[in-house]
Amino acid sequence: MPSEDARAHDYDVRLATPWDIPDILVLQEANLIRSGGSLSVEFPPAWFETIMREMPLVIARRGGALVGYLIASTREHARGQPLTEAKFTAYPGADDAYNAGPLCVAAGERGRGLALVLMEAQRLQLPGREGVAFVRFDNAASRATHARAGYREAATFTHAGVAYVVVARQG
Ligand SMILES: CC(C)(COP(=O)(O)OP(=O)(O)OC[C@H]1O[C@@H](n2cnc3c(N)ncnc32)[C@H](O)[C@@H]1OP(=O)(O)O)[C@@H](O)C(=O)NCCC(=O)NCCS
Repeated sequence: MPSEDARAHDYDVRLATPWDIPDILVLQEANLIRSGGSLSVEFPPAWFETIMREMPLVIARRGGALVGYLIASTREHARGQPLTEAKFTAYPGADDAYNAGPLCVAAGERGRGLALVLMEAQRLQLPGREGVAFVRFDNAASRATHARAGYREAATFTHAGVAYVVVARQG
C-alpha cells in the first residue's frame, strides 16, 4: 500500500489491526478538543475494534511510532452519534456512502502531506464508494487537505452552536 510520498518520509502505511488500538487511542487523546486539539468526538476501544472489522482503518507509522490514522465506517454507525447523523441529514450522499474520518496526523508530522497519503490509501481500499466527512468550519488545515484530496464541500450544518462543513468524494 505505501505510496511514493509515504516512502519518501519513511512512513509505513497499512491497515490497522486490534494490536494498533492502544496507540490509536493515545494519538486520539492528544488531539481531542479537551486536550487542545481539533477532534470533536472521542471513540472508545470497543468502537475501534468493531469498525476495523467492517471497514479499512488506515494507519501510518514512522520508526515504529503511530503518526497518523484515518477511519472509515459504515453509515449505520451514524445512529446514535449526533454529529454524524447531522452530517448525513445535511448531505445524504449515495446509498453506499461511508463515513470518512476521523482523520488525525501527529503534530510533529504535519505539513508533509501525510493526510493525503492516508486519504489516497483509503480511497484505494474503497473503490467506487463515496466518502463523506465533516470538518469544523474553522479547521482551515483540514478543509485545505480535504480539498487537495479531491473532496468537495457539499453542505454546511451547525451542531451545538458549532459550524461544520460536509465534504464528499467519489472513490
Ligand atoms: C488536518 C490534518 C489531518 C492535516 O494533516 P497534514 O498531514 O498536516 O496535512 P497537509 O500536510 O496536507 O497540510 C495541511 C495544511 O496544514 C497546515 N500545516 C502545514 N504545516 C503544518 C504544521 N507543521 N502544523 C500544523 N499545520 C500545518 C497547512 O495549512 C497545510 O496546508 P498547505 O500545505 O496548503 O500550507 C492535521 O493537521 C491534523 O491531524 N490535525 C488535528 C486533527 C484534525 O483536525 N483532524 C481533522 C478533523 S476533520
